[in-house]
Amino acid sequence: MRVAFRLNGQPTEVESRPTAFLVDVLRESGLTGTKEGCGVGVCGACTVLVDDRSVSSCLYLAPCVEGADVWTIEGLTERFPEVVDAFVAHEGMQCGICTPGQVAAVCALALEQPDADDGAIREYLNGNLCRCTGYQTILAAAKAALQR
Ligand code: FES
Ligand code: FES
Repeated sequence: MRVAFRLNGQPTEVESRPTAFLVDVLRESGLTGTKEGCGVGVCGACTVLVDDRSVSSCLYLAPCVEGADVWTIEGLTERFPEVVDAFVAHEGMQCGICTPGQVAAVCALALEQPDADDGAIREYLNGNLCRCTGYQTILAAAKAALQR
């Protein structure tokens, strides 16, 4: 089936099986910045924005984005350069699997709760699980991104 939606600000149309997940359709279309970690909706690595809400694309059926506005890490870095700058400035990087989801989640946070305090930031990001780097730099990057 064909699915028509806006992808990173551009009208697009992709071929999808009715049961395909969004992460797979995005990656098969060449946007490999979105990563699959756990595949079961708990790690946040596959985070993308659908109509400016954070979603786990490993659980989101691709046909459900028909007519929606989808942003992946490739477009979010252009749309929210201040978030990228904050991650760089605070060395908020994790590995290549986790970082795109972290950045996407902070972009969604900036849209949904631009006045979030430390507790709200921590709560919002608790769906992005990896703590390999200690996590404090991620939180500092998120806080700085909101201030920008
Ligand atoms: Fe989607 Fe982990 S890969 S939440
Ligand atoms: Fe990605 Fe830990 S698995 S930073």
